[in-house]
Amino acid sequence: MSLLIRNARILTLAGERGPRRGKALADLGVIAAGDIAVADGRIAAIGPKLESPAGAEVIEAQGRVVMPGFVDCHTHACWAGDRLDEWEKKLNGVPYLEILKAGGGIHATVRAVRAATKKQLSAQLKDRLDAMLREGTTTVEIKSGYGLQTEEELKMLRAIVRAGNEWPGTIVPTALLGHAFEGELDEYARMVVKEMLPAVSREFPDITVDAFCEEGAWTREACVRLFEKASKHHPLRVHADQFTSQGMIGEAIRLGARSVDHLEASTKADLTALAESRTMGVILPCSSFHTDQRYARGGFFIDHNGAIALATNCNPGSAPTHSMPLAIALAVRFCGLSPAEAISASTVNAAALLNLHDRGTLEAGKRADLLLLHHKDERQLAYELGGNPVDLVVCGGKKL
Ligand code: NIG
Repeated sequence: MSLLIRNARILTLAGERGPRRGKALADLGVIAAGDIAVADGRIAAIGPKLESPAGAEVIEAQGRVVMPGFVDCHTHACWAGDRLDEWEKKLNGVPYLEILKAGGGIHATVRAVRAATKKQLSAQLKDRLDAMLREGTTTVEIKSGYGLQTEEELKMLRAIVRAGNEWPGTIVPTALLGHAFEGELDEYARMVVKEMLPAVSREFPDITVDAFCEEGAWTREACVRLFEKASKHHPLRVHADQFTSQGMIGEAIRLGARSVDHLEASTKADLTALAESRTMGVILPCSSFHTDQRYARGGFFIDHNGAIALATNCNPGSAPTHSMPLAIALAVRFCGLSPAEAISASTVNAAALLNLHDRGTLEAGKRADLLLLHHKDERQLAYELGGNPVDLVVCGGKKL
C-alpha cells in the first residue's frame, strides 16, 4: 500500500538518534507545509510538492498536523476485573496505599487476573489496544505484575504477546516482577530472584525488568537485590517516588536503569541527579489526576537538562485511561511541560526509552506510524480536554 499525504503541517521531530534533553524537547522539527509519502510500511519521502507514486492513495491534509504515532511507554493495560468499589472508597477519602495495605488495590486485580485464562486476558487487552489506536497510540509498553506467582506472571506475559500478535501496532512487554508481594517481603523477593526471574529469563531473554519501590510495596533493598541479579541479562526500569520518596533514584542511576517512572514525591536533589544522568524520567500525570493531585515536577526536570518521557500508566487502580491526548493535556496543565515538550515526550523520547529507534520521528526510512490530526495547530492536542484529536491513523504504513 502506498500513500501520499499532501499539504500538511508536519512535525518531523527529526534529529539525532536518542532522547531529546532539556530545551531540545521544544523543537518539533516543523515543516510548515509539506507532503509525506509512504510505501511498503515505511516513510518513503518528506518534502514540498512530492510526486505521487503510481497507484498511491492521495490524502489532502489541508494544512492540518501530521505527526508521529504516540508511544505509550508505561502501561499496566493487561488486567481482568474492575476496581469500581475501591474507587468509591477512594472518593470517600481512603488513600491508595491504605487500600493496598488492606489487601485490596493491586491484590484485588491479582485475584481477578488469576481467575482469568490467558485467552480472556488477551481478549480484554486487545479491546484496550484498539481503543488506544483510535486515539493515536501505535506503540505500547505493557507490564505484567498482577500474577505474583511464576506461572501467573508468565501467563500475563504470554497474554500480552498474544494480544500484540493480533494488533497492527507494536507492543513491548515488560516483566514487572516486583510489583507487590504475598506473605513476607524478604521471602517473597527471594522466590522472585531464585525462581521467577530465571523462568522469565528463559522465555523472554531480552525483556526489561521492573519493580515498584514504595511503602507497602517493594523496599529499596529488595528492589536492589532483584535488580543486581536481573541487570546481568535485562534492562531495568523502576517505579519510584509515587507516594513517598524511598531513596531509589540514586540506586537506579547507579544500576544504569533505563528509567525511573512516577517522580511525584521526588526531592529536587534527586530530580536534579536524575536529570544529569543517562536514566530517563517518566511522568504519569493521569495517575496523579485520579489519585491525589500530586504531580511530578516535569518542568523542573527539563530545566535541568533531563530526558523525559510521558505515558498514560493505563491501569485499573491509579489511571483508568488509555488516552495519550489526556496525558498531554494534564502534563501541560500540572507538570510544567509546554505543548511541544509534551509531544516530544510522547513520541521520540518514549520510543528511545523502549529502545525503538525506527519510530517516534518522521524521517525517510522510518516505520510509517503517523497521525493526521483534525487540527492545524498542534497546541490543540494539549488544549482540548476529552475529545479525540486524531482524524486518521497510519500504522506500519496501513491506513486504519
Ligand atoms: O503505576 N504503582 C504501581 N503500579 C500502578 C498501579 C497499579 C494498580 O493500582 O493496579 C501505578 O500507579
